[in-house]
Amino acid sequence: MLQVTVTQGNIAQQATDCVVVNLFEGVTTPGGATGAIDQALGGAISNLVASGDFTGKIGTTAVLYTNGNLPAKRVLVVGLGKAEKFDLKGVRKVGASVQQALRKLKGVNTYATIIHGAGIGGLDVQAAVQATAEGALLAAYQAPNYKREPSENSPNSCTIVEFVEFDGSKLAAVEAGVARAQAIAAGVHHARDYVNEPPNVLYPVEYARRAQAMAEAVGLNYWVLNEAEMRELGMGLLLAVSQGSAQEAQMIFLEHAPAGTEKQQPLILVGKGITFDTGGISIKPSADMWQMKDDMGGSAAVIGAMEAIACLNVPRRVIGVGVCVENMPDGRAFRPGDIITGITGKTAEIISTDAEGRLVLADALGYVARFNPAAVVDLATLTGAIVIALGSQAAGLFSNNDALQNALLAAADQTGERLWPMPMYDEYLDDIKSDMAELKNSGGRFGGVATSAKFIEHFTEGYPWAHLDIAAMVWAGGDKDPATPKGATGYGVRLLVALAESFH
Ligand code: BES
Ligand code: MN
Ligand code: ZN
Repeated sequence: MLQVTVTQGNIAQQATDCVVVNLFEGVTTPGGATGAIDQALGGAISNLVASGDFTGKIGTTAVLYTNGNLPAKRVLVVGLGKAEKFDLKGVRKVGASVQQALRKLKGVNTYATIIHGAGIGGLDVQAAVQATAEGALLAAYQAPNYKREPSENSPNSCTIVEFVEFDGSKLAAVEAGVARAQAIAAGVHHARDYVNEPPNVLYPVEYARRAQAMAEAVGLNYWVLNEAEMRELGMGLLLAVSQGSAQEAQMIFLEHAPAGTEKQQPLILVGKGITFDTGGISIKPSADMWQMKDDMGGSAAVIGAMEAIACLNVPRRVIGVGVCVENMPDGRAFRPGDIITGITGKTAEIISTDAEGRLVLADALGYVARFNPAAVVDLATLTGAIVIALGSQAAGLFSNNDALQNALLAAADQTGERLWPMPMYDEYLDDIKSDMAELKNSGGRFGGVATSAKFIEHFTEGYPWAHLDIAAMVWAGGDKDPATPKGATGYGVRLLVALAESFH
């Protein structure tokens, strides 16, 4: 992973492969550190702007060579966009854009940067450092790779970024911002890893092993339920999904309970962790089936968030649950038409074995009631319908509780991991009434997002609850934004950390 260090000093005096300075859109005469470097380079930055080649548009960059006029070999100028629109989300994007630009230069291993937004941007220093470092770290992510040799065009990886702050009284805030970014980025990186790993490598038992190793490293309580224990508990819906798989299902538990909060009503985060979703007997078309390795994105967000929550030592009790199952067709697999009883005693008729997410969540949501939760939030790549409804710009948000819904919307706004509220009308329940069982697991194409949420709601037990359908958010077919390279996105980690930190 990219290393982040903090130095007190003058950015212009840093001997490094590249120094990074910035410029707002519309500024023709740079001031501050950018101005000092412009002067040392005989007005090269002013000329860049005057020529029209660099406008300061957010995230755009230009490289200049110092020709011995500064101890550094290069200068990278990054645009901050319009001053009146500038905020922490912009800072994260700028930090990521710089990392992306420098990754492409063969000779840059170490760079020194000013803190975007902390000077004339007027943002809080710690928050600005955190956003800059978070952007850089998220952009620097490299997915697991099974090639024997690095590929020809694999980017040069910048390995060290140095934050340079002149004012000694601000150093503690700079260090704190870096530490927060590192904790959060580690959670996002690991969430991306869990999803990116191929489904033959990362199946439920291996997933549990990795979660356990992580828990030991960061100091989370860890335990797991295996299939025998789930059978004992009556988790028939979850076990039905697992029935066709040679892999044993696992329910992974991670608990963060700092001293004095052991008895506090926990915030519970539940993630769908289908390590591979073939659809089962209601098998999916083969063309893009490989991508169903991302059907564990909800659990990856939860497990990644728990890692960050532990590292940040968030002052409240939080329990994370990964519901990890493989959905396969087989001679022993469950079938359409089966009627199955779950942990709450409620019965469900299986219409489609491909609507498996709501089945595993139903048992998980029934089970977690025993922890007397303050609130339960589940994240799941649940429906293709949400992909159609919202595309990859927002996850769908369903809730039975306004305070929880508002806390989630605030966390979404703060992190840029967008949520959009969806309806929970009781009439949707009519579409999933079954002739022979209490509910059926599919109501057909119309309103497929809402009926899936109503199905899950039916298995909650009175506590405040929210469901996030993140099916379109966990995977990026191409580079989505500078901080989100192609592949698993780690969506939800930052959102859940922000929720845990703000939740009372
Ligand atoms: N994991 C899928 C949902 C999904 C679809 C995630 C596309 C990511 C991208 C889920 O298990 C599923 O198959 N849902 C079905 C439900 C239907 C059978 C009621 C769907 O949405 O088609
Ligand atoms: Mn499915
Ligand atoms: Zn699924």
